[in-house]
Amino acid sequence: MAASVSPPTFDPLDPAFVADPRPAYHRVRAHAPIAWSEEKRAWIVTGHPEYLAIARDPRFSMNMKDWEHYDPSVAPENDRLRRLNENSMSMSMDKHDRIRKIVNVAFRPRSVAKLLPLIERTLDELVEPCRPTGRIDLVADVAGPFPTRVISRMIGIEPNSAREGRFKELADDVIAVFSPLLSGVERRRAEASQEELLKLIDQVILEHEGVARDDLLSMLLEAESDGKSLSRDELISLVYVLILGGTETTANSFVLGVLEMLRNPDQLELFRTRPELRSSAVMELLRTQFPGFFITRYATEDVEVAGIAIGRGQGLLVSVHAANCDPRVFPDPDRLDITRDGRELQEVFGSGRHFCLGANLARLELSAAYAKVFDTLPNLRLAVPESELRYHENVAVRSLEALPLEFSS
Ligand code: HEM
Repeated sequence: MAASVSPPTFDPLDPAFVADPRPAYHRVRAHAPIAWSEEKRAWIVTGHPEYLAIARDPRFSMNMKDWEHYDPSVAPENDRLRRLNENSMSMSMDKHDRIRKIVNVAFRPRSVAKLLPLIERTLDELVEPCRPTGRIDLVADVAGPFPTRVISRMIGIEPNSAREGRFKELADDVIAVFSPLLSGVERRRAEASQEELLKLIDQVILEHEGVARDDLLSMLLEAESDGKSLSRDELISLVYVLILGGTETTANSFVLGVLEMLRNPDQLELFRTRPELRSSAVMELLRTQFPGFFITRYATEDVEVAGIAIGRGQGLLVSVHAANCDPRVFPDPDRLDITRDGRELQEVFGSGRHFCLGANLARLELSAAYAKVFDTLPNLRLAVPESELRYHENVAVRSLEALPLEFSS
């Protein structure tokens, strides 16, 4: 049965909400873990069991075309962009499982572990130039370029080349496309960047054809599932999804995680002195400081979840962050406790068939990045009062504009 009264409202653009959305999530969850919001025209999901039930149920789709309010006029007119959506594994469910099977191989723990030298080299390149100054802006100097460089090098773009620089600029522009605050001019620029990025990816694929190399693209060009390899359009969409899924999320998790550790010196001490806690620290920081707000789903038929009737075509805004701070599953949920153990910590990366493809890579990148800053920058501290930190206005990701830090050089 649907709750008749709307839940307490919140504004994803309110700086206080962005800095810490958990108090608002707790209020909404106390109203109902699945609550219909007239204002957002969607179910707001903040409970952990409810999140899992929805994420694991194939009757909920990621495709906006399944939404009752879908407006076909917002679909891209541009042919290349339309093909991008049609060939995306997240948007096209008939393609999803085949593409995932192919690409999963490259993201298994054993394949990802081989990337550690590349990840560490990339971190050295970014952090070491700052060392003599004793100051670092973690956002601009490290977190921003770090995951994009890793992905571009994984797909075989030459390190420190002009093309690598352009790839980073275009990836940044493309991510901005998701902000509803863009002016018409900014949106056109972002769309032009999207076009250029797709062309660049296409060109890199072309260069890989027939010349096998030891990188992700060569592996994807050769791999097949059920006797079928990836088409050119599927491959372009896939690389594009890796950029969208794997750059901002990792960069912002890292920045928010470092800030949260600096707020909790007892936990930082544990991190430094008990190496066996490092992998759970990565997950606990993601749980408490999740870098995003909502994942979306659309009911493809009438479905009942936890006694709530969700009608076909209705939209759901599912907060992974809220679910992972549900006190029914995590006692004292807002407290950072890197000794916390539990299978549930995995669920910061989603669940079910859309479970994060890059989870192993993200964990490796984050643990290497935390080790680099916490182990090698002595006496690390904020260079400004926390009240001066500013968050970006963006409904998709929680991100700081800058995180100025000082350390003993
Ligand atoms: C800390 C960093 C990251 C976080 C917190 C994160 C989180 C998530 C979550 C919650 C989902 C599920 C979305 C849903 O169910 O709607 C997801 C899916 C996905 N992620 Fe990540 N992610 C991270 C890093 C990465 C990286 C590094 C990559 C790739 C290089 C990546 C690629 C993807 C892809 C492709 C999907 C869609 C999978 C599918 O539809 O089957 N992510 N991620």
